[in-house]
Amino acid sequence: MNIDWGSPAAHAFITNVGIITSNGPIGANAMAAEWTHQISYSPGLIAVAISNHNDATAENIRATKEFGVNLAATDQDVASSISGKSSGKNIDKIAVLKELGFAFYAGKKIASPMLENASLNVECKLVHEVKLGSHTLFVGEAVDVRVGAKEPLAFHAGKYWKLDTPIQKPSDAERTKMKAMVAAYVRE
Ligand SMILES: Cc1cc2nc3c(=O)[nH]c(=O)nc-3n(C[C@H](O)[C@H](O)[C@H](O)COP(=O)(O)O)c2cc1C
Repeated sequence: MNIDWGSPAAHAFITNVGIITSNGPIGANAMAAEWTHQISYSPGLIAVAISNHNDATAENIRATKEFGVNLAATDQDVASSISGKSSGKNIDKIAVLKELGFAFYAGKKIASPMLENASLNVECKLVHEVKLGSHTLFVGEAVDVRVGAKEPLAFHAGKYWKLDTPIQKPSDAERTKMKAMVAAYVRE
């Protein structure tokens, strides 16, 4: 069965807001991708699921075998909206973002522009492309990492969110009880 865009099931997830930058036949471009996840520590791999509707980003990545992952910070929701609501095939979104005051730096190891003041910037070289259902997974290996000072923006139920209240850890007494309970269920 499907889990459709905007459905209650799809809205149950909490995701990142990746601004995926690329620079290829379409020109320099940025797209928003909530399906941006680290999937390996060693080597550092990041997977981005991009719709099979022939987006500009997919075309740029296929041609250049590289892309930038920029995790939007809590004050960069507008950058996500601009990057996510039109295609680089028609609009120079990097120019729009610059006009709005967002800055970019030149990638060190890749030709894509990288978003300044993001929570995280990772320059990636494409290592796998896997077509899955409605989307294709582009897996990139990290070749340059820059950790920003700002908190990452979260996406949930079609809205942008700021994470600000960590859940309190159980007390020592509760943790001792939990440990004992786990120990009581060791498989023979
Ligand atoms: C918050 C947000 C998250 C999005 N996440 C994804 C995603 O994970 N994968 C995807 O293919 N499109 C996603 N989109 C839609 C793309 O950003 C959109 O199709 C965009 O126009 C593609 O740009 P391009 O043609 O320049 O590559 C998202 C849009 C928004 C606003």
